[in-house]
Amino acid sequence: MTEWQKSNWRDLPRVQMPEYTDAAALKTVEAQLSKYPPLVFAGEARRLKDQLGAAGRGEAFLLQGGDCAESFDQFSADAIRDTFKVMLQMAMVLTYGAKVPVVKVGRMAGQFAKPRSAPTETIDGLELPSYRGDIINELAFTPEARIPDPKKMLHAYTQAAATLNLLRAFSTGGYADVHQVHQWTLGFTEGEKAAKYREMAQRITDTLDFIKAAGVTGDQAHSLQSVDFFTSHEALLLEYEEALTRMDSTSGKWLAGSGHMVWIGDRTRQPDGAHVEFCSGVQNPVGLKCGPTTTADDLKVLMRKLNPKNEEGKLTLIARFGAGKVAEHLPRLIKAVQEEGAKVTWVCDPMHGNTIKSATGYKTRPFDNVLREVREFFGVHDAEGTVPGGVHFEMTGLDVTECTGGVRAVTDEDLSDRYHTACDPRLNASQSLELAFLVAEELSTRRENAKAVAHG
Ligand code: PEP
Ligand code: CO
Repeated sequence: MTEWQKSNWRDLPRVQMPEYTDAAALKTVEAQLSKYPPLVFAGEARRLKDQLGAAGRGEAFLLQGGDCAESFDQFSADAIRDTFKVMLQMAMVLTYGAKVPVVKVGRMAGQFAKPRSAPTETIDGLELPSYRGDIINELAFTPEARIPDPKKMLHAYTQAAATLNLLRAFSTGGYADVHQVHQWTLGFTEGEKAAKYREMAQRITDTLDFIKAAGVTGDQAHSLQSVDFFTSHEALLLEYEEALTRMDSTSGKWLAGSGHMVWIGDRTRQPDGAHVEFCSGVQNPVGLKCGPTTTADDLKVLMRKLNPKNEEGKLTLIARFGAGKVAEHLPRLIKAVQEEGAKVTWVCDPMHGNTIKSATGYKTRPFDNVLREVREFFGVHDAEGTVPGGVHFEMTGLDVTECTGGVRAVTDEDLSDRYHTACDPRLNASQSLELAFLVAEELSTRRENAKAVAHG
């Protein structure tokens, strides 16, 4: 076997990538990006891999979340802060439910390129190329806006760098302090309809009061004031990925410098395709979306390619089947994993199999279906004796109206109020936190049941 090279993907069939018309402009951008500093570092990626390994064993739990597509227009410090803040709140609630550390990974600082279900879009008889994310073309429905422009990669890099800079500051500043995070959560449970979450919030308050009274000091106190926060995105635009891939001098291994974790989407996981080839050679933890059309045979080939040394934490399988379909598909894939003796971390994405068109014409996701898919995912893992290692959400800290339902119910009619996503509908801050409470409750019940069985 010849040694992996970061450009090998260029010889293989590719899907979902733009055809840039200006080859010279593309080359200039690639050359420029190759000289820029990587956004993440090998030691960080290795730390995330260790933590994901723990999630695969049931000793940690992954919370991965953020925009479907990051946007140039909507980029703001407040938006990043608010999403970071909600993720910390969710992580605290989940930690309480799962009684294990929660690994926090944003769909942030690089989640710009989008796979689309159709190559073109037609409005009032006008057919134009589909929007593919701000790193590629523009959402506006004009022929010029839809032409892929390589220079957008430089804009994406700059935005990702600024986002990461802010996230790094928040992770170590007072913002990440557990007492602060919990104060915010208490605000949510004050609402009349959120009463059912107040009890869990109260128990968290008691625990924090106890920790404070017991006088936690030194390193332990520091760990309550700072967090590890990682970034991730779909490795879709391979010219961008390749240009940011660097050899890590300490280990002699390649690192995708664009984000800590990269994943392969449901539409780009062809075992002999460009995206799998690229992801097979980087040392970052890799995610693989598994959908209703994923076959056991393909999964086996993919696991060997993406995790040839069968390392814990290297490969995360992100199940996205849709509510009502988990029992039909997940068991055969779990069996494939077991037949291979493969080490994987199973995560549930209850978003991408649950997108529907509302009566009012908006792409939306009902909150109840999202929750139902998570419950089905836990149920199948219980039945199979395997580990549900985490959840993957499309969410934002902003008060948008894109998914329906939740205690502060968003209805079909409300969707037009604040529907801001450039791509798929996201859970808003309140829906995200509510979901965390419900998942925490589920995790806590499962733990109690497991204890009862062990002692029974
Ligand atoms: C996504 O995560 O935004 C996405 C497009 O998911 P999938 O590849 O699972 O459809
Ligand atoms: Co999406």
